[in-house]
Amino acid sequence: MPRSLVVYFSQGGTTGQIAQAIASGLRSTGYEVDMYNIKEGLPPKVEGYSLLGIGLPAYWYRPPFNVMDYLYSLPRLNGLPAFVFALYGTDLGDTGTTVRRLLAGKGAKEVGYFHCLGVDYFLGYLKVGYLFSPGHPTEGELARSKQFGQAITEHVAGKEYAKPVEDQRPALMYRLERFLVNRWICNHIYSRFFRADVKKCTRCGLCIKVCPVSNINEDKEKYPAWGRNCMACFTCELKCPKDAVRSPIDWPIFRPFLLYNVRRASRDPLLDHVRVVHINGRTKVI
Ligand SMILES: Cc1cc2nc3c(=O)[nH]c(=O)nc-3n(C[C@H](O)[C@H](O)[C@H](O)COP(=O)(O)O)c2cc1C
Repeated sequence: MPRSLVVYFSQGGTTGQIAQAIASGLRSTGYEVDMYNIKEGLPPKVEGYSLLGIGLPAYWYRPPFNVMDYLYSLPRLNGLPAFVFALYGTDLGDTGTTVRRLLAGKGAKEVGYFHCLGVDYFLGYLKVGYLFSPGHPTEGELARSKQFGQAITEHVAGKEYAKPVEDQRPALMYRLERFLVNRWICNHIYSRFFRADVKKCTRCGLCIKVCPVSNINEDKEKYPAWGRNCMACFTCELKCPKDAVRSPIDWPIFRPFLLYNVRRASRDPLLDHVRVVHINGRTKVI
């Protein structure tokens, strides 16, 4: 039986949902599928698999750092068939393109590329009262991903594959914003400014548990202490049940970008949104 390895990163669950739907499409054509969310640990080596899938959300109009690390760690792929799927809340940027190019550079043979919307729990937008793409992926998007899984196997079997065109580079404003959240700045600057407000923090440890890259540890008094490997996902602050986490997301430098994005996305007829308040780790629709 042909074996497929599907490696994805999902923090909010939507990329995981699409991964499951694609896997069910693959399985329906006789594939065995092994699935790994890289936040749970390192996936197995790709050797021995006849198909590789990479799934990811857009983070700051690009792949999240942990997905890039995984891709860099891959050996030469020597023609291994590979597919990519990407989730996004408002603007995918060139997230998918980056991964597709990297896989091609490693010698993989692309056999599929899929992207769709996923509900966007980006803390910056929630703080200004917007939840974009609620209810995504929809039943229709899940059904399309299952069909995508089935179509991939036909391309592996030799059916001609017309490579989808590459996604557009993000607009200048988004590229500027992305620059502000580059890895060097995250590691050397933002990482130093995450704090737990000791008046509010109950030392419940949830922030430590939800960090996808294990960047938070307990200090001597069991308060969270941030390391230097932050991905700027802000899940620690998003999930805190006491609103005790202070982070650079509130810095004025981000404000113009957040307002610009929210204004643009909320007027985009192709995007849905609901107005929300986000308090104590919970997002409530108003
Ligand atoms: C830190 C962060 C950054 C994000 N950046 C983008 C982005 O640049 N463009 C976009 O369209 N969506 C962005 N999103 C939204 C996610 O890509 C989208 O919600 C996706 O469905 C999340 O996948 P998951 O549920 O598997 O974690 C971002 C979300 C977070 C948390």
